[in-house]
Amino acid sequence: MKSRNDGVSDDGLHTAELTVIGQVTTASNVTLVCEADGAGLRVVYKPVRGERPLWDFPDGTLAGREVASYLVSEAIGWGVIPETVLREGPFGPGMVQRWIDTAEDAPGPDLVDLVPVDAVPEGYREVLRALDPGGHPVSLVHADDPRLHRMAVLDVLLNNADRKGGHALEGLDGRVYGVDHGICLHSEPKLRTVLWGWAGEPIGDELLTDITVFVKALPGELGDRLAEFLTDTEIDALETRGRALLEEPVMPRPVSQRPIPWPAF
Ligand SMILES: Nc1ncnc2c1ncn2[C@@H]1O[C@H](COP(=O)(O)OP(=O)(O)O)[C@@H](O)[C@H]1O
Ligand SMILES: [Mg+2]
Repeated sequence: MKSRNDGVSDDGLHTAELTVIGQVTTASNVTLVCEADGAGLRVVYKPVRGERPLWDFPDGTLAGREVASYLVSEAIGWGVIPETVLREGPFGPGMVQRWIDTAEDAPGPDLVDLVPVDAVPEGYREVLRALDPGGHPVSLVHADDPRLHRMAVLDVLLNNADRKGGHALEGLDGRVYGVDHGICLHSEPKLRTVLWGWAGEPIGDELLTDITVFVKALPGELGDRLAEFLTDTEIDALETRGRALLEEPVMPRPVSQRPIPWPAF
């Protein structure tokens, strides 16, 4: 393990030469899977150059928002987002994020899944009923799992506009990770998620304590780091969302016309 000149140890995430080994073809932007030569490290790499411009996110870069979201997840102490950095890669600067190994064919429903309407599994919450392409009624459900709940609270703070089912990964290490935070942290309300199962329910004291500490830390060094990727208005809005959660510690209910991302996975 190398030590960088700022004293942070680095197993290659920050500095190793990356080789592209594949592309995620379902992705909306250029999303590449890379390995670090000799370091046994696998990462996701999204070059800034591969970003499709979005009219409603004109400031900064999607890669920068991914890094800012990671910094928030770390500062609050929840570790929901795999380590993410902004660095050079084979196609120029981009975001580089640790790859999370998941069980391929785990038995039972996924953390977020579609099931027949009369078969919502034990320990799951129903979000929505719809018809599948064959015209059969199905339920969009997610696990009533504290690891996923914490991710849902983080999404409220991040103002995540794109929490799809496929963006919640259960790692082989037993932790639940969130990925794809390119359209987070806008200053205007944009929460769009599949995790509405806790809407209107109280947020527990443990999470509120973490949010309290986070809000206090924001004007300091954390805010300075976020300012590399976000506008001042966006950082203020993050603080406002944190304070609003402390004043009314309840999971929001969907209010927008399109509260669920499409496609949902
Ligand atoms: N860090 C990661 N570890 C493991 N799989 C990942 C990771 N990041 C993305 N993926 C997989 O790649 C897919 C596409 O990545 P995503 O971040 O959603 O790209 P895009 O921004 O192009 O939509 C995800 O749905 C997930 O299955
Ligand atoms: Mg995606």
